[in-house]
Amino acid sequence: MFRAPIITICVAFLLICSSEAKPNGKNKKAKQVVPDIECDVRAGKISYPEFIVRCPTSCRETKQRVYGTGVFASISSICNAAIHSGVITNAGGKVIVKKMAGQSDYKGSAANGVRSLSLPNWRESFMVEVGKPKKGVIYPSTLDYTPSKPTTVKTGQKEAKASPVSTAFPVTAAPEPITTTLSEPTTISTTVSTTTTTTTPPPTTPTPSTTTTKPRAAVHKVRDAVEPVEVWKPEANPFDSGFNIREQDSLPRAPEPVSQGDPNCKVDIAFLMDGSWSIGKRRFKIQKDFLAEVSQVINVGVAGPMMGIIQYGDDPVTEFSLRQYSSSKDLKPAVDKIVQKGGLSNVGKALSYLNKHYFSDANGNRGGAPNVAVVLVDGWPTDKVEEASRLARESGINIFFVTIEGPDDNEKHNVVEANFVDKAVCRTNGFFSLPVASWFALRKAVQPLVKRVCDTDRLVCSKTCLNANDIAFVIDGSSSVGTGNFRTVLQFVANVTREFEISDTDTRVGAVQYTYEQRLEFAFGQHNTKADLLNAIKRINYWSGGTSTGAAITYAAEQLFSKSKPNKRKIMIVITDGRSYDDVRAPALAVHRSGVIAYSIGIAWAAQDELEYIATDPDRDHSFFVDEFDNLYKYVPKIIHNICQEFNSQPRN
Ligand SMILES: *[C@@H]1O[C@H](CO)[C@@H](O)[C@H](O)[C@H]1NC(C)=O
Repeated sequence: MFRAPIITICVAFLLICSSEAKPNGKNKKAKQVVPDIECDVRAGKISYPEFIVRCPTSCRETKQRVYGTGVFASISSICNAAIHSGVITNAGGKVIVKKMAGQSDYKGSAANGVRSLSLPNWRESFMVEVGKPKKGVIYPSTLDYTPSKPTTVKTGQKEAKASPVSTAFPVTAAPEPITTTLSEPTTISTTVSTTTTTTTPPPTTPTPSTTTTKPRAAVHKVRDAVEPVEVWKPEANPFDSGFNIREQDSLPRAPEPVSQGDPNCKVDIAFLMDGSWSIGKRRFKIQKDFLAEVSQVINVGVAGPMMGIIQYGDDPVTEFSLRQYSSSKDLKPAVDKIVQKGGLSNVGKALSYLNKHYFSDANGNRGGAPNVAVVLVDGWPTDKVEEASRLARESGINIFFVTIEGPDDNEKHNVVEANFVDKAVCRTNGFFSLPVASWFALRKAVQPLVKRVCDTDRLVCSKTCLNANDIAFVIDGSSSVGTGNFRTVLQFVANVTREFEISDTDTRVGAVQYTYEQRLEFAFGQHNTKADLLNAIKRINYWSGGTSTGAAITYAAEQLFSKSKPNKRKIMIVITDGRSYDDVRAPALAVHRSGVIAYSIGIAWAAQDELEYIATDPDRDHSFFVDEFDNLYKYVPKIIHNICQEFNSQPRN
C-alpha cells in the first residue's frame, strides 16, 4: 500500500521541478518564510525530512533534553541541539534540520552550555545546520505536525525508483509546504488496487490442499522465478520518518466516533504477517482470519491497544500503520482485503524495517504504550534475524514469535539460522514464543496470544532507563541545611525527576524527608504526571532538626519500596549534608539486599565513609560528593547517565 504515495510524491516533485525549470519567469521568486518553534519541540515531531525553523532566545535555560553529539536522536529538542552544536547561540536564530536514519549509541557531551545525554539506540536521527537556505531551495513555510493527505496518482513504476528526486525534498522554489500541493483525499480502493498491481507474479506453490507435503525449503529457493518488482528499498530512503508520514497520510480516516478500546491493554502492536509464496493461498487466508479475530478479541481503541500490520516477503510492506484503524470494527474488513505479496520469508529484513520506520510518532506510536511486534512465520525465516532483533529490542520493542509448522527434525538442516526464535524474542523464557503445530490449529492461539501481549508488566523489552523505575528521594531536612539550601536540594530533586518519563505505568517517584524523625512527603503513584510531581516537590516544607539517615533509609524501604511494582527498578537517592546520628550500615545493607539500587549524594559536611556505605557498589558510580549546595546542579546529568548506563548493561535473560 505504501508505494502509491511515494510514487505520488515523486511524480509531484518531477512536475514541480520541471515546471520551475522553465525559464519563462512566470513563477515569482518565492520568499522563504521561517516558522517559529518553541524550545521544547523535538525533531521527531516534525515530519519533513529537511526543514528550517527559528528558535527563540534562552532555550538553554529551559534545559530541554538532547541526546547525542553532532548527530542527535530525534527525541531531542531542536533548539537545544542547535545550541549544543554551535549552530545558534542562546540568543536563538534560524536552524536547518536534516533527518537521518536511526543509530545505535548516541554519545552525550557538554558543549556551549548544553549537556547532551547518551542513548544506546534510537530509530531516527537528525543533524542541524546554520539556517542559511541554499540558493533556490525553499523549505516548508509551515510545520503542521499532522500534515494533510496526498493524492494517489496512478502511475507506472519507473518514476518510483527516482530516489534522487525524493532526496531533493525540500522542493526547489515551491512556495508552499509540500503537503498542501498534494492535498486531496484518497480512497481505500485506489490504494489497494495499486498495491495489487505492483505484485502480480503468480504463486508457484500449489495451494495447500494437503497439509503434510509442503516443500518449503525448495519453495524458498524459487525466488528468481517469482521475484516481484520492488519499488521501494527501505535502506535507500534517507528520510524514513518523512516517508512514514506521507505513507500513513494517504490512508482513509475513520469517520466513526472514536472507540476507546480495552484500557487494560494499552499497547502499540504491530503484526508481521508472512506473505511468502511458501504459504499458499489457503494458509494465507487462515493467517488473515487469525489476525481479524485477534483484532476483535483485543478490543482496539485510542485508550487501549492500537494495531497495525506489516506484510513481509522479499521485502516488508506496511499494510496499515498503528493509527490507521482505531477500532476493532474498522480493522476486520481491512484485514480481509490484504492481498498476498509473495516472495521469501525475510523476517530479519522486516524486523529491521519495523524498527527503523514503523514505530515512529508520525505512524501513531504513543509514548505511554509499550511497543509490541508479533512475528507470524510459516516454517522458518529465509534470512537471519539475530542482529535486526537485537536492534529492535534495544529500541524497546517486545518481540513475540508465533511459529507455525516450525522445522521438524528432518527439516532442521534447511534452517538458515539455528534457534532463530530464541535469537529474536524479547526473552527466552517461553513467554514470547508460541509454537503452533499446524496452520489449522492457529485459531487456538488467539486467546493466549492476546493475553500475553496485553500483560504490560511482563513486556520487559519496552522498559528503558527513563520509564521503568520507582525512585525514592530520601531528603535530609536537618537544621544544618538551612532554608535556602533546602530549596536548592528540592530543585535538584525536581531536575532529576524532570528527566524521567512519568506516569503510573512509567517511572514513579516518591519522597521522604528526615531529621531525627521521618515523614512521607508523597508515595509512589501519588502524583502521576510530571507537572503534579514537580509541584509536589516544590511544596515540600523544610522540617529542620537532627540527622538520622539510617532510620530514614529503613523508613523509605517500609513506606515506599514495599509498595514498588515487581517490574520496576527500585532506585533510592539519599541526599545528606552531614554525618548521621545513627548507623547507616545495617539499614543500607538491608535495602541493597532487597534489590534497591542506592545512590548517595553528600554535600558539605557529609561523611565520605557513610556515603559509601549507603551507595550500591561500585561506590564510584553511586556515590557523589559536592563541597557546596550551589554545585549540586552539576550532578543532575551525571546521575541520569549512571542510572541509564547501569540499566543498559543488564544481561538480557
Ligand atoms: C535545576 O534546573 C534549573 C533550570 O534548568 C537550574 O537553573 C538550576 O540551577 C538547577 N538546579 C539544580 C540544583 O540542579
